[in-house]
Amino acid sequence: MLGLKLPTDPRWVNIVEKNIEEILTDHAYCEQKAASTAISLIVSFPEYTELVQEMVLLVKEEISHFKMVHDKIVERGWIMGRDRKDEYVIALLKFFPKGGSRTIQLVHRLLYAALIEGRSCERFRLLSEQLEDKKLAEFYRNLMVSEANHYTMFLGFARHYGDRKEVDKKWQELLAFEAQVMKDLGTQETMHG
Ligand SMILES: [Fe+2]
Ligand SMILES: [Fe+2]
Repeated sequence: MLGLKLPTDPRWVNIVEKNIEEILTDHAYCEQKAASTAISLIVSFPEYTELVQEMVLLVKEEISHFKMVHDKIVERGWIMGRDRKDEYVIALLKFFPKGGSRTIQLVHRLLYAALIEGRSCERFRLLSEQLEDKKLAEFYRNLMVSEANHYTMFLGFARHYGDRKEVDKKWQELLAFEAQVMKDLGTQETMHG
């Protein structure tokens, strides 16, 4: 699915199901970080007009996802907790070397974003198929579709702005690296844990 080289262990959903408060809190921050990433891309790469236009739309969509998740927390009578470290993202962002031309830096940022959207999409699919709470499962089914579109958009921009052959090679290398990172994960009640 989505080119990912290692599927999440389906038992991850059992772990999540025992702590819905934790997964919702972690998920809310994922949506906030997605919105923040879109803003950061606007600030870092303002000369890429088409990208800026799309990122404005993305900020709105991701912050609306944040609100939807926050509503789920509030509905349940909970108060959102503090942000958690996302070990998956921290490990992933070490893959590409720093520096290079602005276009190369942009391509790296876009590939990271595509992959994080893709893995989130895979996790949402598992939740949508396996959660006992059918209302919450439906919620994740709808979000899965959005994240799949974001995945396609980021990968499309990377291929559009970068050299197609180079980008595809880097994408395959990043996917292989991500599978290594994922080997040690799938054991925590967080979106990427
Ligand atoms: Fe989102
Ligand atoms: Fe997204």
